[in-house]
Amino acid sequence: MRRILLTGAKGQLGRECDEALLRAGFAVIAADHQSLDITSLQAVESAFEAAKPDAVINCAAYTKVDLAEDEEEKALAANAAGPGNLAECCARAGVPLLHVSTDYVFDSPLNAPHKEDEPPRAGCAYGRTKLEGERLIAAKADCHYLIVRAGGLFGRYGNNFPKVMLRHALKDPQLRVVGDQRLTPAPARALAEALVRMLQSSLTEQFDGWGIYHFPGLPSVSWYDFACAVLACARKCGLLGRDVPVIKITSAEYPVKAKRPSDSRLASEKIQKVFGISLPDWHDYLEETLRGEL
Ligand SMILES: NC(=O)c1ccc[n+]([C@@H]2O[C@H](COP(=O)([O-])OP(=O)(O)OC[C@H]3O[C@@H](n4cnc5c(N)ncnc54)[C@H](OP(=O)(O)O)[C@@H]3O)[C@@H](O)[C@H]2O)c1
Repeated sequence: MRRILLTGAKGQLGRECDEALLRAGFAVIAADHQSLDITSLQAVESAFEAAKPDAVINCAAYTKVDLAEDEEEKALAANAAGPGNLAECCARAGVPLLHVSTDYVFDSPLNAPHKEDEPPRAGCAYGRTKLEGERLIAAKADCHYLIVRAGGLFGRYGNNFPKVMLRHALKDPQLRVVGDQRLTPAPARALAEALVRMLQSSLTEQFDGWGIYHFPGLPSVSWYDFACAVLACARKCGLLGRDVPVIKITSAEYPVKAKRPSDSRLASEKIQKVFGISLPDWHDYLEETLRGEL
């Protein structure tokens, strides 16, 4: 049975990956932040010695987008030095690294979704630290890696946009949501299943599709559209007892510390072509998310 070291195993995506790996018949060495801090090379080396993994999936990250503006060093340690340590140990052990990154590595608006070969340029500290993580992995000689970028991750576990919208709708007379930022929100369970599929391919002899991939949820939406769909789902499945108006506002009317990209839609062709992965319709994952734990 193939052994997979899963880092950040208690996070929103980590928990989905743990379940998806077990469903697919892998032995999972699930390491949470407490048992393995990826910022320590020594700790990562010890984890490799103990686990002897056939591959690594990295779901560990510093994900507090606004706080990262004040804690860039801390974010850099987790999002760049940490993945660099994993890449170092994967290269030494000759095993693949599957790493998750973000749509926030893009800042410049396009009239089309961002493709994998577009030169990234991050507009906030979080995005910069994630981009540096990508660079450190790619720069590590002999590291076979798959970097999968996703945006607007949501699912049953942890806190996320749909749950925040529902919580507000249950107590506030109306919601005000930004309508001038577009994204392709990714359901965490679907991303975890895609990662497992990519892992299976990457463990075959003939695989040579290493590199960067995008995993968008479809269709693309603004945060405003996303919020409207969340509340419609909550009404339909009986989690919200009244209609709550959603007011569309601009980014300028909702000041936050970190600048968000106005268009971080991710292109979908490459992952479908190379791995035969069909991209999820995020609507299909809203109910399980809203019924999930906080
Ligand atoms: N959430 C999103 O909307 C979103 C969007 C696009 C991409 N992503 C990417 O998707 C991946 C998964 O995100 P997520 O939503 O699952 O995040 P999450 O729920 O915050 O989980 C991240 C996990 O990593 C752990 N962690 C933080 N620093 C660590 C370190 N130094 N060593 C080991 N573990 C550490 C955290 O533990 P503690 O909680 O104890 O710190 C947490 O359990 C990340 O790479 C993220 O950048 C997320």
